[in-house]
Amino acid sequence: MGLYAKHIFPRLMDRFMRGQEFQRLREDLLTSADGDVLEIGLGTGLNLACYPQRVLRLRAVDPAPLLPARVAKRSAAVSFPVEITHLSAERLPYEDGSFDCVVSTWTLCTIPDSVQALREVRRVLKPTGRFLFLEHGRSDDAATAAWQDRLNPIQNVLGCGCNLNRRIDQLISKAGLHILQLDRFVMEGVPRIGGELYRGIATPNRIGVSAPPETDGR
Ligand SMILES: C[S@@+](CC[C@H](N)C(=O)[O-])C[C@H]1O[C@@H](n2cnc3c(N)ncnc32)[C@H](O)[C@@H]1O
Repeated sequence: MGLYAKHIFPRLMDRFMRGQEFQRLREDLLTSADGDVLEIGLGTGLNLACYPQRVLRLRAVDPAPLLPARVAKRSAAVSFPVEITHLSAERLPYEDGSFDCVVSTWTLCTIPDSVQALREVRRVLKPTGRFLFLEHGRSDDAATAAWQDRLNPIQNVLGCGCNLNRRIDQLISKAGLHILQLDRFVMEGVPRIGGELYRGIATPNRIGVSAPPETDGR
């Protein structure tokens, strides 16, 4: 990681993304998290304080160790054990069906192969598990989406791989997850090109339908 990615970007990101509205949205999303939880793209650990006491254990992955001292302090302040592994969500080191909840906030914009990461999310969720997501992405408004496409190359550099124009709901469905709930809205206090939010819950299988048997593809 270069100087900008290692020292400057994480500080800017942490300061911006711990704003009041960000924290309110994190708390709303995570209020229903419980049991064994996996967070993909932990970042600087801004979600940690928002998990309820029903969480028994948190495991988190992120390829980048961002502001490790701050993450350690935030991890030490919660009531459940936190285990952080520095690797990519595209290849998770967990058994099938390990988690009650998987959480992703403002991360699917950045993961290089986000559909592969979401396939992994589906694999590691218990059949009754839930994927809680809160992400920014492509606008339904054509003029805003055109600006997102235009500015994406710049955002990619400034935001260390962040994309403005991903259709988050389509990525989730493409990975075989089933969206139970989806809220679309524009976040207060953030320019619309980065504030088009996708918030919701997805499950590994359609509710009431068990997973199809694995085949060898023939
Ligand atoms: C905008 S930050 C969001 C951080 C955090 N989720 C939050 O809500 O504050 C995006 C995060 O995705 C992480 N990331 C990038 N590529 C990833 C990958 N392949 N797998 C998992 N996380 C990744 C980055 O290191 C960064 O921490």
